[in-house]
Amino acid sequence: MPDSLQKDYTVIEDIIRSRARSSLPIMDSMITSLVRNGGKRIRPMILMAVFRGMSGKDSVLDTAYRSAATLELIHTATLIHDDLIDKSHTRRGVPTIFAQHGIPSAVLAGDYLFVEAYALAAGLPEKIVNTCVRSLRKMAEGQLLEEIIPPNELSFKTYLDIISSKTAVLFKSACESGALLAEAPDDVVRDLGQAGLSLGIAFQFIDDLLDVLGNEHITGKPIGTDFWAGKLSLPYFLYRETFGPLPNDRSQKTFQSILKKLTSDDIIVKGKEMALSNTNKAKELFNVLDNGEIRTYLQNMCDQMLNRIL
Ligand code: IPE
Ligand code: IPE
Ligand code: MG
Ligand code: MG
Ligand code: MG
Repeated sequence: MPDSLQKDYTVIEDIIRSRARSSLPIMDSMITSLVRNGGKRIRPMILMAVFRGMSGKDSVLDTAYRSAATLELIHTATLIHDDLIDKSHTRRGVPTIFAQHGIPSAVLAGDYLFVEAYALAAGLPEKIVNTCVRSLRKMAEGQLLEEIIPPNELSFKTYLDIISSKTAVLFKSACESGALLAEAPDDVVRDLGQAGLSLGIAFQFIDDLLDVLGNEHITGKPIGTDFWAGKLSLPYFLYRETFGPLPNDRSQKTFQSILKKLTSDDIIVKGKEMALSNTNKAKELFNVLDNGEIRTYLQNMCDQMLNRIL
């Protein structure tokens, strides 16, 4: 990571940690442990990289830090609710708030972190608040669609709309915010937003593949969660295309019985190619960044995202 971004990372980490606090000990312990237990901080670093890559002014740096920390708090709040929705028991290598404290605590801890995100967003320039608001609307809509559409009625196109909404719009928002804060021209803001969207789609493709072939020690999440939750994500679309219908029964035993096919080269190579075509789009669009060192950092981030499933 370039030195300037390393410094930004430390500042943003401090803001995130100081905001994820509560005077109520149980709330404090739930949210501080999630925030301190790792997390790749991808979204805030993308925002800062785009801001720096477009030669954003030092006078705007504090606003960029607040914007970046806001995105991470939003992301973390959505993870708490997502684990409750998906009935996931492990996140970042430790029990989820849902698993450890139950449904009411997970709802309220997520709400609490959203409030902290809004508090941090208050006072940010209107254009930044607007992109955050647009993302949050889309994220809630995407998560809802994923829940209510029965898997046998889900088309690949709708799946793409869902992952764009639930995941990629926040990457888009990170890129747009960085570009807006650096006062980039409208067409550049638009192109960088598109880079974020493509990167976000690739990110969810890989996350979906890791749900069948990941290593819990590396991802911090167990495999098979999407299967038990009845989801139809990328590897299952590819499975159907390659091997025919999926079993209706979503038990542990059935998952184990199809795992070999799910992790076969047919599926992984194809899934990775689909992710690659999106990271390639993002890399191409990132060429607009003025600063070569930062441009390389972001383009390498695109490659590393794919290498999570080499
Ligand atoms: C997980 O996001 C949720 C998805 C959109 C797939 P990350 O993989 O960025 O989670 P952390 O913050 O690093 O734990
Ligand atoms: C989550 O997608 C997207 C969010 C907006 C939180 P997943 O449900 O696949 O994320 P993980 O795998 O639990 O991190
Ligand atoms: Mg989940
Ligand atoms: Mg989910
Ligand atoms: Mg997942």
